[in-house]
Amino acid sequence: MRTLVTGATGFLGSAVVRQLKKVGGQSVRALVRDPSAAPDVADEAVKGDLSDPSTFDAALDGVDRVIHAGARVSTQGPWEEFFAVNVAGTGALIEASERAGVSHFVHVSSLSVYDVPSDNAAVNEDSALEAGAEDRGFYARSKLEADQVAQAAITRGAPVTIVRPGLIFGPGRKVPLARRSVAAGPFRVVLASPDYLMPMAFVENVADALVLAAGNERAIGRIYTIVDEHVRQADYARMFLQASGQSWRPVYVPPGLVRTAASLVEGAARLVGKKAPLTRHQVDRTLRSARFDGARARAELEWHPQVPVFEALRRCFASQRNAPGA
Ligand SMILES: NC(=O)c1ccc[n+]([C@@H]2O[C@H](COP(=O)([O-])OP(=O)(O)OC[C@H]3O[C@@H](n4cnc5c(N)ncnc54)[C@H](OP(=O)(O)O)[C@@H]3O)[C@@H](O)[C@H]2O)c1
Repeated sequence: MRTLVTGATGFLGSAVVRQLKKVGGQSVRALVRDPSAAPDVADEAVKGDLSDPSTFDAALDGVDRVIHAGARVSTQGPWEEFFAVNVAGTGALIEASERAGVSHFVHVSSLSVYDVPSDNAAVNEDSALEAGAEDRGFYARSKLEADQVAQAAITRGAPVTIVRPGLIFGPGRKVPLARRSVAAGPFRVVLASPDYLMPMAFVENVADALVLAAGNERAIGRIYTIVDEHVRQADYARMFLQASGQSWRPVYVPPGLVRTAASLVEGAARLVGKKAPLTRHQVDRTLRSARFDGARARAELEWHPQVPVFEALRRCFASQRNAPGA
């Protein structure tokens, strides 16, 4: 059994490689732009670029399963690059995998593809997808279009699973305090209500879900939402303080104020004929709380987050303290 992992040099992809090796019984090949950066635990690395489908056939030779965690994850850059890597790259990699006889392709999508129509919305895999992704930047738009490409592949019978993880955090990444926050002396200004639900997903738990999905034939054609726990913003800030040993006070900016500011920015940009750096839709989508139902993954994949959020936070800060030069 050989599994190809894209994005294997990245935050999630490297955790997937480690999880595959931990589970054992298979050879892991990494598709990477720079083979010298491939994780040591991978059995082999093949040079490839998601924007260059001519590199796919060699990478897929002899591969049984693909876990596609590679993507252009950025707030910068032209749409053409997001499209080439995230949208066209996903489509071409699925097609090349079908030609190569891959038996199961797991696509890493995102919760950002879901529409959140109102505050405290209940969202599951059958809920509507975001209609205004274009207003939320090229990354969000490309993740939505890539998810749609993967759904179209499922519709035509390709052996694809879509996994939509929540806010991924873990050692090696700056620990998120909120969807949006700003440090201000002894305060952290949090652009959210204390009741906002943070859809936390520890990187190792997400990797576990992806490996379980790839190893489960019944997951073919299915979509899974992966959230460890929804934690109230105010409770999360308390956990963050306790796990980090830091001392600052959270200050919550009323969402109405942020919405008004965004409307003003948008209006001003319209007046001068410029693209607004912030839109009301972006703010609404970021501030609206939702409960993303992950029951399907728990029932069908028998996935249960092994590391609780507080313990995961503790590990994040411990790894920062132990990092070279810390
Ligand atoms: N982080 C989150 O909170 C979150 C939440 C939901 C979903 N996701 C999804 O999870 C996946 C992994 O995200 P991440 O946070 O692990 O991001 P990341 O650390 O930035 O990793 C992205 C990976 O994609 C690779 N990549 C980028 N462009 C490529 C290209 N043209 N050809 C080949 N490989 C390319 C990168 O390789 P290089 O080393 O060569 O740059 C890197 O290995 C993405 O699909 C992302 O949308 C992330």
